[in-house]
Amino acid sequence: MEVLVVHAKSGKELGAFSVTESTSIGDLKKQYQRKYGKYYPERQSYRTDPRGKMLKDEDRLGSLDLGNRGKLYFKDLGPQVGWTTVFLTEYAGPLFIYLIFYARPSIIYGSLADTPRATVVNIAAGCWSFHYAKRLLETVFVHRFSHATMPIMNIFRNSSYYWGFAALVAYFVNHPLYTVPSYGDAQIYGGLALFILSELGNLSIHLAFKNMRPAGSKVRKVPYPCGNPFTQLFNFVSCPNYTYEALSWVGFSVMTQCLPGMIFIFI
Ligand SMILES: NC(=O)c1ccc[n+]([C@@H]2O[C@H](COP(=O)([O-])OP(=O)(O)OC[C@H]3O[C@@H](n4cnc5c(N)ncnc54)[C@H](OP(=O)(O)O)[C@@H]3O)[C@@H](O)[C@H]2O)c1
Repeated sequence: MEVLVVHAKSGKELGAFSVTESTSIGDLKKQYQRKYGKYYPERQSYRTDPRGKMLKDEDRLGSLDLGNRGKLYFKDLGPQVGWTTVFLTEYAGPLFIYLIFYARPSIIYGSLADTPRATVVNIAAGCWSFHYAKRLLETVFVHRFSHATMPIMNIFRNSSYYWGFAALVAYFVNHPLYTVPSYGDAQIYGGLALFILSELGNLSIHLAFKNMRPAGSKVRKVPYPCGNPFTQLFNFVSCPNYTYEALSWVGFSVMTQCLPGMIFIFI
């Protein structure tokens, strides 16, 4: 049998390919690349309807009911870059940027930087560094991504968000004229406790996701709580890693009494 590949937007015919019922979308992508060299598999996406859902690599043409010489709609996803590369770039930046403001304040604030630093500023630098070191380690050792790549533009968009906010938060928290929280130690350590618990919750969910997906697979099970009490939030939402991430920054903002952390997580 043959399948006709048509451009999803323009409707232009891009070629007919010899396939069988057992040919998968992944196999078709390889055939397409042999014809059009620059479109490597991660760049291609196929649909049975121009506005329909993107087909998975594992989908077999026989199961799609395309008929003899059926049509598939092609879309170019644009140049791709590895997920791990994007994550490592977006998380390494905030670590370095924040630590420049903290460890070398004279570069940013000039002679004002000689003012003694409050304890909460040291705690905040510890929290910030811990969070991003954790994200870097999770990217390498915990996450099991289902897609190898994402569009290259994401690296610029994501990095400007993370790097920009790192500079904004660091500028205010490390500022020599920074004033300590109004309610003193109770506010600082209350915020710190929320931050630590939320980071543990976030890590617990990332580990739970990892354990739900066997190595090398793309299995995406409906998540349920496991033995770890932090995973009880799965009873309410399917992505409590974000709930915990948001709470971490609420804790950080309470602890430092600084608004930029809240704007960061709001966005
Ligand atoms: N501060 C911020 O503004 C901000 C914004 C975004 C993210 N983050 C942080 O970055 C972390 C990761 O972000 P993300 O967007 O990649 O989170 P995510 O979409 O929840 O995914 C985290 C990992 O778990 C996998 N996963 C998700 N659901 C699964 C399931 N049901 N079964 C098996 N595996 C599953 C994902 O695989 P797939 O590859 O299949 O998706 C991915 O590898 C967040 O939890 C958060 O801590 C922070």
